[in-house]
Amino acid sequence: MKENELILILDFGGQYNQLIARRVRECNVYSEVVPYDISIEEIRKRKPKGIIFTGGPASVYGENSPKCPKEIFELGIPILGICYGMQLMVHLLGGNVKKADKREYGTIDVDINNSSLLFKNFANTNKFLMSHTDYVEKIPEGFQNIGHTETCPNAAIENQDKKLYGIQFHPEVNNSVNGTLVIKNFLYNICKCTGDWTMTSFVDESIKTLKEKIKDKKTLCALSGGVDSSVAAILLNKAIGKNLICIFVDHGLLRKNEADEVERVFKEKYGINLIRVNAKERFLEKLSGVTEPEKKRKIIGEEFIRVFEEESRKIGEVDFLVQGTIYPDVIESGLGKSSVIKSHHNVGGLPEHVNFKEIIEPLRSLFKDEVRKTGLELGMPENLVFRQPFPGPGLAIRIIGEVTDKKLEILKEADSIFREEIANHGLHKNINQYFAVLTNLKTVGVMGDERTYDYTIALRAVETTDFMTGIWSKIPYEILEKVSSRIVNEVPNVNRVVYDITSKPPATIEWE
Ligand code: XMP
Repeated sequence: MKENELILILDFGGQYNQLIARRVRECNVYSEVVPYDISIEEIRKRKPKGIIFTGGPASVYGENSPKCPKEIFELGIPILGICYGMQLMVHLLGGNVKKADKREYGTIDVDINNSSLLFKNFANTNKFLMSHTDYVEKIPEGFQNIGHTETCPNAAIENQDKKLYGIQFHPEVNNSVNGTLVIKNFLYNICKCTGDWTMTSFVDESIKTLKEKIKDKKTLCALSGGVDSSVAAILLNKAIGKNLICIFVDHGLLRKNEADEVERVFKEKYGINLIRVNAKERFLEKLSGVTEPEKKRKIIGEEFIRVFEEESRKIGEVDFLVQGTIYPDVIESGLGKSSVIKSHHNVGGLPEHVNFKEIIEPLRSLFKDEVRKTGLELGMPENLVFRQPFPGPGLAIRIIGEVTDKKLEILKEADSIFREEIANHGLHKNINQYFAVLTNLKTVGVMGDERTYDYTIALRAVETTDFMTGIWSKIPYEILEKVSSRIVNEVPNVNRVVYDITSKPPATIEWE
């Protein structure tokens, strides 16, 4: 494949590291997150146009604080240090970092020197997200101050000759106004990138490479119905056509009518060689009596693989196995420096008993938004490409407590009504994820003159761009009222509907 311009992002354990990589890509420059202790030889080999040090929870004076070799500053490659990354740069180059009495947190006015290449096209003051206790007290020799806040004397610094830059704030988060412009300035004004990363070139190059690699050999793909594996399969279909066989494991935990829709599109629109396995009973049996969310995830991941293995055995030996792994999976499982809140991986590892020679992961380098753009490039229908994220374990983690067939039916109906009303009122464009949850709570109600004792449905709707943080959506009361009234009237065994008004953090998007 043709080599793209590259920005290496050294991971010092910050929560927003993926976001930094995404922002760089949004500026049409390819970026990769790598461990902070990557060797100097490796960096030289990769020939990056620039390097970004991420933030992180450590203090440079901490005993085991992550540090990179000092020679990195002698490579002549531009470096931007963010938060801890800036403090480390200062510490290694002879400046001084100090602990403040109080943490500075929030979207705060930063007075900046807009004659710096980093702040080109900025006003004198800009709001950026600050989140730190340590701060740079004394900057190293050769550096200039290019930004401060009321309490932080060195919020931004530069060494123009050596092309070294440090910022105490986080340009990658949405709370920072024009944050992406800081990154863009670094990429284009300082690293002199030209911006050669586009999805059209990605698709063309991938198809060419896959054709050359696979030739006329047999390739197997596990389809979950989600966006990632769908795009991977269609990309492969464009490259190798009939040599691709897809196995669609329908675990019965998809939304109402979703499995049929996936089957229809793949078979009718693309003519893909698709085997659908209806495995709901098996999954429900395995989930019987299980209430713990992480256990549900594990069981579903493992069972998915078992079903897939059994089906593939019927096909016999294949040369390649396609996985819909995307870049966030790679970062999360590869580096694992941030703490695990939920195990988000749909598939609990690789199938052990499938007879294949090599794994192919055509989307391994892409973020979710890039996967969607790839889908569009491949001519996939918008309603498939822009489907809201749906967790691999499906409705099982939206049913609190034990999953049963009856509960699944209740949830599918309630969720379908909610989605229908959101679409009818044109709200689907503004709300990024919305769904119903079947709480395990039964309460007393009254229908006609009868006492009822039935389930409570919770509605969840969030607005977010990164799914790492999000705010609950202010859906108009009239629409909530309509949804509530329809659910209680149309779905048996539900007598109460509540709306979740918690943002993330502190809550997560899914209830489990
Ligand atoms: P949370 O609940 O952690 O969700 O705020 C963030 C995003 O991740 C999705 N999610 C999952 N996706 N397997 C997945 O593939 C999972 O087990 C899983 N759990 C949560 C969630 O829908 C949201 O988009």
